Amino acid sequence: MRNGPVPPPPRVLPRNDPRQYDDLAGEWWRPDGAFAMLHWLARARAALVPPAGRPGALLVDLGCGAGLMAPHLAGKGYRHVGVDLTRSALDQAADHGVTVLVGDATAVPLADGCADVVAAGEVLEHVPDWRRAVAEACRLLRPGGLLVLDTLNDTALARLVAVRIGERLPTVPRGIHDPRLFVDARELIAEAARNGVHLRVRGIRPGLRGTAAWLFRRLRGGPVRTAGREPRMKPTRSTAVLYQGRGVRHG
Ligand SMILES: C[S@@+](CC[C@H](N)C(=O)[O-])C[C@H]1O[C@@H](n2cnc3c(N)ncnc32)[C@H](O)[C@@H]1O
Repeated sequence: MRNGPVPPPPRVLPRNDPRQYDDLAGEWWRPDGAFAMLHWLARARAALVPPAGRPGALLVDLGCGAGLMAPHLAGKGYRHVGVDLTRSALDQAADHGVTVLVGDATAVPLADGCADVVAAGEVLEHVPDWRRAVAEACRLLRPGGLLVLDTLNDTALARLVAVRIGERLPTVPRGIHDPRLFVDARELIAEAARNGVHLRVRGIRPGLRGTAAWLFRRLRGGPVRTAGREPRMKPTRSTAVLYQGRGVRHG
């Protein structure tokens, strides 16, 4: 017989409901946690960002979550400003040196042309009006500024891999995505171009051997990361599931 009160069942929220990030707040910085893959993606995204070209350069991180890019940007010379809807995530980002702003990626309370770099990692596929968020990202960039992003493509394969399969594995929290919001790569390129950014995209995927070893250790309940052994993201020819974009603002 059970001792003490029965814990309440975890609340079931609609797909893509941002309150899920509050429920998962304790997972952000756990190497074996529900957001482990975001760490692998943050490293790959930060690798697209060159060292700052001037003192005081600003990097605006849209949908920054708990600031997982911060350790990978350290030493590059940027002031890292993060914008997100979720306060519980922003509190953790602030603990990692990010200057945080509560706000929506579709209406960012920052001036036109203020940013040397805008990052939008794993956020566009959560925004019902992703075109508006892309326009905001481009608006924030100074001429010559750099946009870096990664997101999920609007394809049947992405829905299969990221939702139907991914949510059965420890790599993707169940219900975190609404596949109706996935972002068609060609439409994203066109939208960025309309807003002055020539975006190039490439597919990425987790390294197979590293991920298999990670999953094996994770499913056995053992330690999943020793320094430097976490899976790395690899470029891949197909953009059909997950892809990165990088582009410079002209004008
Ligand atoms: C999958 S997480 C990615 C977090 C971070 N970019 C990373 O890669 O670690 C998505 C984040 O986007 C935020 N988000 C979702 N919709 C948003 C919106 N409209 N404006 C700002 N942030 C949003 C969520 O609160 C969450 O922190």
